[in-house]
Amino acid sequence: MPDEGEGQAAPDDRVLEGETGQDFGDEPSQDFESEVKQVGKMYDDGVLIFSREGLQSIAHEVQRCRDESGIHTLAHLAIDGNIVEYPAPQRRDKYGQTKTNEIWPYVWYRSIEEMTELGFIFGDAKMARLSAHISSVYWETDEDEPPGLAPSSPAQDLRRRFDETRSGWEASEHYSQVKKLIASAIKPVTHRLKLVGFACGVIDQYESSAMQHRALAQHVMLTGIRSFLSSLSAPDGPSTPEVQCYVQDPSNTDLSKQVLHASGLTVLDDPMGFLEVDEHSVVVSIAPDVPIKQIVADLGRPAAMIWNEIHEDDARSTDPASSRVKEMLARDYVGVDFPHHEDAANKLVLWVRKDLALL
Ligand SMILES: C[S@@+](CC[C@H](N)C(=O)[O-])C[C@H]1O[C@@H](n2cnc3c(N)ncnc32)[C@H](O)[C@@H]1O
Repeated sequence: MPDEGEGQAAPDDRVLEGETGQDFGDEPSQDFESEVKQVGKMYDDGVLIFSREGLQSIAHEVQRCRDESGIHTLAHLAIDGNIVEYPAPQRRDKYGQTKTNEIWPYVWYRSIEEMTELGFIFGDAKMARLSAHISSVYWETDEDEPPGLAPSSPAQDLRRRFDETRSGWEASEHYSQVKKLIASAIKPVTHRLKLVGFACGVIDQYESSAMQHRALAQHVMLTGIRSFLSSLSAPDGPSTPEVQCYVQDPSNTDLSKQVLHASGLTVLDDPMGFLEVDEHSVVVSIAPDVPIKQIVADLGRPAAMIWNEIHEDDARSTDPASSRVKEMLARDYVGVDFPHHEDAANKLVLWVRKDLALL
């Protein structure tokens, strides 16, 4: 399981416990080491690690995994533009049984640090140029697990909790601070903005736990930011265009999806959320298990991002800020601390693209 970065949330065991079931080879070979060096060189030369075409190719393969059973080989675009084939994972747990709490297909993304400095997780040279691979993860239940795991709460209970959390937050000082910050930081725009939220957690897990509370708080924050962004968009237009809000978190259960959908959020499967990121997007990403900052920096220049503050020594975190991310932020964005809410998220920063910044 990748390390969590300092200042990020506790790891989410539901997703990352378990085995990939894929055998990529033994010790790193000389070929592999020279491939890793090549990847470092390509990165320095500006080759995209997470290109739109690469993500589209993963999306295509993910769909094939959903549509077909008994897949033996997976294949998608590597960073050099070539298709790489690799064996599909065993979809059995360590006892050889069908996995009960499985997420399939699950995309493992690799930061540039993982591909180069920490690159020896696969010994197979042909995998070295892949910044993602498709796998199967599962989590085990044991006696120590907190009671009340999903889907213990019926949809209407969860919906009620969501609505209560929302009305509570909308009446809070934190929401006023968030609105004030956005109004003072982002220029009104004449086109439609969209909000894309990543890794906001699972709202129907560990009933009444801090993790559930955070997931509810983060989704509710999205709905609040969406309403406020709607009033900022197209100030001269005849009517306020609706700001679409997309969310992507592969751990979402059917129940979570149902309640989020009923609350006006569009739930997307991984990697479709990434494909929504463009220059009109406001990206929200909180303590993700994947290198979202690096994916976003390769995809383009969103209108704004709200994500965890950057730590200098974050190379081994799940969402490290690579040199490319730091350059993007320094050159094209203005950053300001996002109002802190200890129970909802770790420290966040709002980054606004310079042409839209009032700061
Ligand atoms: C450490 S948890 C943080 C959850 C929540 N944001 C919080 O602060 O408590 C990491 C989250 O990243 C999510 N995640 C993993 N892969 C992802 C992906 N490809 N896209 C979006 N979210 C992802 C996990 O499912 C999990 O909910």
